[in-house]
Amino acid sequence: MDARQSRQEARTGLQEQLSAYSDRLTRFEEITPEAVHVLVHTFYGCVRQHPRLGEIFERRLEGQWPAHLAKMESFWQSVLLKNGAYKGRPVPVHLKQKELVSADYGEWLDVFRPIANALFVPEKAEEIISVAERIAQSLWYACFGTAGAAAPASLSSRS
Ligand code: HEM
Repeated sequence: MDARQSRQEARTGLQEQLSAYSDRLTRFEEITPEAVHVLVHTFYGCVRQHPRLGEIFERRLEGQWPAHLAKMESFWQSVLLKNGAYKGRPVPVHLKQKELVSADYGEWLDVFRPIANALFVPEKAEEIISVAERIAQSLWYACFGTAGAAAPASLSSRS
């Protein structure tokens, strides 16, 4: 099995697990700090198992996961709850990661979307996913955009 097939298989497995459990969950109806906590921890729990992205995260964050998760909770609170909890600048942080390739942002969203859909009622999931897509697109443009380049279709639900 090549790397692409193995990624596809991991993703399908993840989506199957999530849809099995999502029927048992009461989805969050509101975006609250508690809901953001669950979103962040579930997402990183899953993305750490992604065959390619997981290794990128592990190489950079080994031994530093608690601080990263706390930072990501404040980031998602800032963008979803507009509480100003996050003060950083994600673009330079991702620009520094030379191992990232263009397709990685689409892979990131492929992990993120089913998690948001499993955890939140459809209206809130859609809101969260469109925020994630907008940020992924702007990170993609910062890392890979050239004059006139269009972001990959995988970064948008409405392609
Ligand atoms: C292409 C897939 C991605 C990979 C492999 C990735 C990887 C990483 C890694 C390794 C860090 C920690 C860097 C460090 O502490 O030095 C980081 C930080 C961060 N990432 Fe990503 N990332 C990806 C996509 C995204 C997306 C789509 C978002 C937002 C929707 C995002 C938001 C952030 C934020 C807010 C930080 C913290 C920046 C700071 O230190 O202030 N990342 N990312």
